[in-house]
Amino acid sequence: MPNSGVPVRHLAAATALLAVPSLIAMVALTAIDALPLGHALAAWAAAAAATAWLLRRHFAALAVLRRYIERADAAAPHSVAPMTAGLADAVARLVRDGQAERARAAALAEARDMVVDAVPEPLLLLTRDGRIAGANRAARGLLGAEIAGRDLAEALRHPQILEAAGAVLAGGAARAVEVTLGQPLQRSLVARIAPLPAPAPDGACAILMLSDLTAVRQAERMRADFIANVSHELRTPLASIIGFIETVKGPARDDAPARQRFLEIMEQQAQRMARLVADLLSLARIEQNEHTQPTGRLEVAPVLATVKATLELAAKRRDMTIALDLAADLPDVIGDPDELAQVFQNLIDNAIKYGRSGTAVTVRAWPTDEPPPAFPRTAGVRPRALAVSVIDTGAGIAREHLPRLTERFYRVDVARSRDAGGTGLGLAIVKHIVSRHRGALTVDSEAGKGSMFTIYLPIFDG
Ligand SMILES: Nc1ncnc2c1ncn2[C@@H]1O[C@H](COP(=O)(O)OP(=O)(O)OP(=O)(O)O)[C@@H](O)[C@H]1O
Ligand SMILES: [Mg+2]
Repeated sequence: MPNSGVPVRHLAAATALLAVPSLIAMVALTAIDALPLGHALAAWAAAAAATAWLLRRHFAALAVLRRYIERADAAAPHSVAPMTAGLADAVARLVRDGQAERARAAALAEARDMVVDAVPEPLLLLTRDGRIAGANRAARGLLGAEIAGRDLAEALRHPQILEAAGAVLAGGAARAVEVTLGQPLQRSLVARIAPLPAPAPDGACAILMLSDLTAVRQAERMRADFIANVSHELRTPLASIIGFIETVKGPARDDAPARQRFLEIMEQQAQRMARLVADLLSLARIEQNEHTQPTGRLEVAPVLATVKATLELAAKRRDMTIALDLAADLPDVIGDPDELAQVFQNLIDNAIKYGRSGTAVTVRAWPTDEPPPAFPRTAGVRPRALAVSVIDTGAGIAREHLPRLTERFYRVDVARSRDAGGTGLGLAIVKHIVSRHRGALTVDSEAGKGSMFTIYLPIFDG
């Protein structure tokens, strides 16, 4: 009997209980002398044995069911006593449903973890006592791989975030705080902390999300700087024009030679404003198209020859020459003729403006399969580019200015640039055109020795 898994104690107790009515009947029959005591005892013993035998089958069936329920991996019971057959089916269905439900819950949890991991913002789950119950990939990237299980105060030592998290964990409503995290790069972050509707099984009861606002804040700053710069650049010539108009209307009204001189200055200033507006529009247009690479095939040599012809007079004014040094059989590039003419025009114009008078500006072009790292590459394809360098032997540029050279309105020597009629947008335009062409720009310069600006353009292979 123990082999069937039926506990003998339970079987004996149940049999004893069920044998009570027949015992009473036997005692009653013996008392009224309807049955001799020996017969009564024999009959009762037989009834008790039969009860035990019947009960044992049901107990065995129940034991099978119990094992099945306790160990969900056990096979579903199929041969059980008829009385418990329905029950066995119901239990088997229940266990199956339970298993399916658990599988669904596990799949859901896995999908949720994947979604949470895919959220680009760092996300932390916090327990009531301020411990990190979970962290997504971005949070692990920001705060360390071993972040789960640690104290929030240890991981994010920012008093404002900790204070806000503490208030939410103490039962407060959701809140957001904007903070700056430093070292090595300063970042503007907004931390949003919200309570979960109910504590999760791992104890998480609040969620903390960090959004990086660095790029947004930087863009805001750049926009403000840009507007300030444009207004300043426009205001200077405008103020000069207004001043001269007043002079021409007043003190110089009857002074024809002075009037003539002032009108010339006014014309120069107006032209400077017109150039600034044209450059700004040009920059805006290039930026708008920056994501569409030009597709046309272009021979660079004629473009360089045209730009050289255009700037020859300006070079002559500074007693300079422009020398083209082009490799034989230059390959064609993928490019827009007008935009590339604008690039060469800006670079050669700079070389003339900032080069040493009496020297030559050299424009060198050659094909290369070793473009700089900034040149976009396709995996498995050897990069090939056409390089064009514009070289001068002027004052050069000190190292600290190089990283900012292509920023709008950035000039090393503001007065010199303005005197030369510059707007400070030339290299910004060059940078955006080169980027639209999926090319690269490098600057090699040393103060006192001269500068070499090189652009790398993709070669037309088709
Ligand atoms: N070849 C060069 N040698 C020395 N400094 C240069 C040279 N090219 C550019 N720079 C420096 O970089 C600054 C930015 O050049 P950029 O071409 O953008 O503006 P700009 O020449 O002042 O004005 P613009 O080109 O709009 O007329 C210049 O003001 C100058 O200080
Ligand atoms: Mg320039």
